[in-house]
Amino acid sequence: MREPWEDEEYVKYTLWFIFACVVYSIIGFSWGALMGGIHDFRHFVDHRMFGKLIVRAHTHINLLGWVEMAIFAAVYYVVPRLAKRPIYSLKLVKVHFWTHNFGLIGMVVFFTTAGIIGGIASQTLPPADVELLVRPWLAVMGIFGSIVLLANCIWAYNIFRTCAGWRKNW
Ligand code: HEM
Ligand code: HEM
Repeated sequence: MREPWEDEEYVKYTLWFIFACVVYSIIGFSWGALMGGIHDFRHFVDHRMFGKLIVRAHTHINLLGWVEMAIFAAVYYVVPRLAKRPIYSLKLVKVHFWTHNFGLIGMVVFFTTAGIIGGIASQTLPPADVELLVRPWLAVMGIFGSIVLLANCIWAYNIFRTCAGWRKNW
């Protein structure tokens, strides 16, 4: 007989967090290898104005993708088993998965866009103009970052509601 937390849809989403973690790790590690290994690429991120934003994209795809996705999957696996009850809301698990992915991809895309635009423009424009050019792209990155934050709050709420009063089931 299945335990109450072994709902097929719940298992599917927990596995999707793991799949996403694997995909982001491949992208993030390859990004790092290319950034470190290709001389012109490394020169661009290290020496052009705002080139560092492309390093930020690498760090966040690794940290929010590879690292956090693995942690989410592990917590979704462990908590219902410890609390001896199913997750509080499966719907919130789904919302968490999609909002986190959406926000993370947006962050990475706009960190990269801002870095490329800033790095190229800094060859012809004075620093103050480059700053003005990059600012709106970073603002959009911030909006996507807020979506990631929202996703994290949804996750925290769902875990909290699952755990609250756990002793009743023991
Ligand atoms: C095969 C795997 C990886 C490679 C080849 C790689 C490569 C690189 C390179 C070349 C840079 C420096 C770019 C520069 O400033 O010139 C860098 C920066 C960074 N990477 Fe990775 N990376 C890898 C995986 C990871 C992972 C898994 C994480 C985090 C979980 C990570 C986090 C960071 C951070 C935080 C920085 C920025 C450090 C700073 O600002 O000084 N990297 N990586
Ligand atoms: C809502 C999600 C997040 C947003 C919007 C965000 C945003 C940012 C921004 C704007 C910077 C650049 C600061 C600067 O250059 O002055 C930054 C740097 C950094 N963040 Fe995040 N961050 C988020 C989540 C995280 C998480 C979860 C981790 C770690 C697990 C992390 C690790 C780092 C690191 C290591 C750096 C500096 C190193 C580098 O990128 O070169 N961030 N973050």
